[in-house]
Amino acid sequence: MITVVGNLKGGTGKSTIAFNLALWLLDKGNKVSVYDLDPQATLRDVAELRSEEGFEPFLSVAETLPEHDKGEMLIDIGVSNMTGLNEALARADQVIIPVSPSQADVWSTQRFLEIIRATSTKAPTLYAFINRADTHPSARENAETEMALRQLGGLEVLPVRLAQRIMFRHSFSEGLAVFELEPSGKASQELTALAEAVYGSARGR
Ligand SMILES: Nc1ncnc2c1ncn2[C@@H]1O[C@H](COP(=O)(O)OP(=O)(O)OP(=O)(O)O)[C@@H](O)[C@H]1O
Ligand SMILES: [Mg+2]
Repeated sequence: MITVVGNLKGGTGKSTIAFNLALWLLDKGNKVSVYDLDPQATLRDVAELRSEEGFEPFLSVAETLPEHDKGEMLIDIGVSNMTGLNEALARADQVIIPVSPSQADVWSTQRFLEIIRATSTKAPTLYAFINRADTHPSARENAETEMALRQLGGLEVLPVRLAQRIMFRHSFSEGLAVFELEPSGKASQELTALAEAVYGSARGR
């Protein structure tokens, strides 16, 4: 299965999610091939840090897609490589769309859906969820953004939110998944809920 993590908007957490999901899949005993098609190469950099630190399992990240699909594939994309973005979307079975809680992010998601519709060949399942959710109890942006996303239609808004948490930042600076950094922490629980929503809880077990 080919899973693409994407959105037109920068900094919504695509690479953070791709990195953590790849390690979650490996942790559950799945084989996964990981691709970073963004010239920024964030995913490749964090995988390199991980390998320099000697953390296991080793995460191998390629920068181009293979000619033929192979097993479980996870792809991080970015708008600075539109050719790669289009190629990944054309082959995607599912697209995971991290969205920050703001109106601008809803608009850019709408544009992204138009690109997916024009590009994809497999009618992929589209999942959106709020990343960097505001943790303030009175914040309405999270629920408002989810409602606006539902109104776009054609995508499943997951009942999962990843909050704005220092642990997600540490994930990159340490080269570790949030569930490796703090197994019972909130970031770990949120990431697990996302992974199970997308891949199913029994995956690889
Ligand atoms: N839930 C979160 N809480 C706190 N920080 C986060 C969260 N998600 C992502 N970040 C941080 O936000 C920054 C951008 O994240 P990331 O690089 O994953 O986004 P991206 O969508 O891949 O960006 P780009 O469009 O530049 O490729 C990083 O510093 C990352 O650590
Ligand atoms: Mg990125």
